[in-house]
Amino acid sequence: MPKQLFIKTFGCQMNELDTEKIAGTLSDLGYSLTDSPDKADMVILNTCSVREKAEYKCYSDLGRLRELKKENPDLIIGVGGCVAQQEGERIVEKAPYVDMVFGTDNISDIPKLLGTSRGKPRNKVSTGRRRAKYAGNVSGEVNIPIKRSNPVKAWVNIIDGCDKFCTFCVVPHTRGRERSRQPDDICREIRGLAAAGYKEVTLLGQNVDSYGKDLGGNAGLAGLLSMINYIPGIERIRFVTSHPADFSDRLIDAMTELPKVCEHLHLPLQSGSEEILERMKRNYTYKEYKDKIKRVREAIPDISITTDIITGFPGETDGDFNMTMDALMEIQYDGVFAFKYSKRPYTPARLYDRLVPSAVSKDRLDRVFELQNCITLLKNQACVGREFDILIEGNSKKDRGKLTGRTRTNKIVHITKRDGISTGDMLKVRITSATRASLTGEVG
Ligand code: SAH
Ligand code: SF4
Ligand code: F3S
Repeated sequence: MPKQLFIKTFGCQMNELDTEKIAGTLSDLGYSLTDSPDKADMVILNTCSVREKAEYKCYSDLGRLRELKKENPDLIIGVGGCVAQQEGERIVEKAPYVDMVFGTDNISDIPKLLGTSRGKPRNKVSTGRRRAKYAGNVSGEVNIPIKRSNPVKAWVNIIDGCDKFCTFCVVPHTRGRERSRQPDDICREIRGLAAAGYKEVTLLGQNVDSYGKDLGGNAGLAGLLSMINYIPGIERIRFVTSHPADFSDRLIDAMTELPKVCEHLHLPLQSGSEEILERMKRNYTYKEYKDKIKRVREAIPDISITTDIITGFPGETDGDFNMTMDALMEIQYDGVFAFKYSKRPYTPARLYDRLVPSAVSKDRLDRVFELQNCITLLKNQACVGREFDILIEGNSKKDRGKLTGRTRTNKIVHITKRDGISTGDMLKVRITSATRASLTGEVG
């Protein structure tokens, strides 16, 4: 009977990919995934630190795991991800029942932490309470096995870390400085994915537009996209996240010219106020941002655009916030991820004064959602009656009679199951109805 592993993932796509790497590493040590922590021999929390709430969730989950461990003293508890990177051994001080803590660059050290570096699982971890040291420049060169959770679409990491140091953001302090993977390594990985039947890849990085700056040469993300575009078998290429200061005309040209690059752009705005953007140290003005949106829409008229917004950044007045609302009206995003500002360790903004009361930030957040929900619904309704190419990704999570796919513009589409249609198929679908969250379509 293989040992059972339960992993809970918080945070961004980067963490989702890391979870697949943790699962792959532990699969080599004889663990198979379960979706129930109660039955598990090992539970891993892959944590996120981007907002206080996410960090708090890690500790409240650990409290629950402590109870599980009382019932099953052999249970191995591991903490990975950005809270692990940020807190290191302090996690073990706060929660001494944790057996191992590993940073975001230390997934390949898990066998060592378990005392199984030669690949043989041990039943007990007696000396596992060690934190793997931050290993620095390891991306690309370390070949970590990946247990992918979807058979048709795959995450592919192209750049780790972030050098932007926006004043609110903890990520540069958890994921470290930017390190690009070698293009050859990336293309080799994607050729392997194509050979295994994957149809879609999403290139991942906190700031994908910085790709290659540390490698010399000037091919950048546009050059990488054109190489991947020639890999047979891969039909769709996506990338996240772009940074408005670095998003370039060259990339717009690549998106326009390369047939496999999908018509979707996630370009986090954060705020519509010039003053707030400046104090966030985002390195662009709203006007510059708007010009880029205009250029990309001129080049790719059907593109869908999504964004991230923060409400209640220190010093945000009603006037500043109204500029964010105006921006939402003006730009007409397809979707928005919005968050209440949260004070994070190591960030300059944690020392800023003129804090916005939590209730005000929350009210502003609600107003963002209220407005954006209307815009998203209208945008989705405008798809009704039109035909789209859908890549089928699997069964619908909510309705067993349905399959779920996505348009190139990243909109979710449900279709009724029927013989001859299966995961991985690319189909033409006519949209028959729309909600804010998804579209429904008919084949043919
Ligand atoms: N690299 C990406 C995303 C980083 S984290 C980018 O630059 O856009 C994802 C989102 O979380 C950010 O875009 C931001 O909107 C939000 N975020 C980051 N730090 C935050 C904080 N301290 N409080 C609230 N939201 C935050
Ligand atoms: Fe954080 Fe800014 Fe880097 Fe994005 S670009 S990860 S918001 S520091
Ligand atoms: Fe969270 Fe780390 Fe991603 S802080 S958003 S898991 S980079």
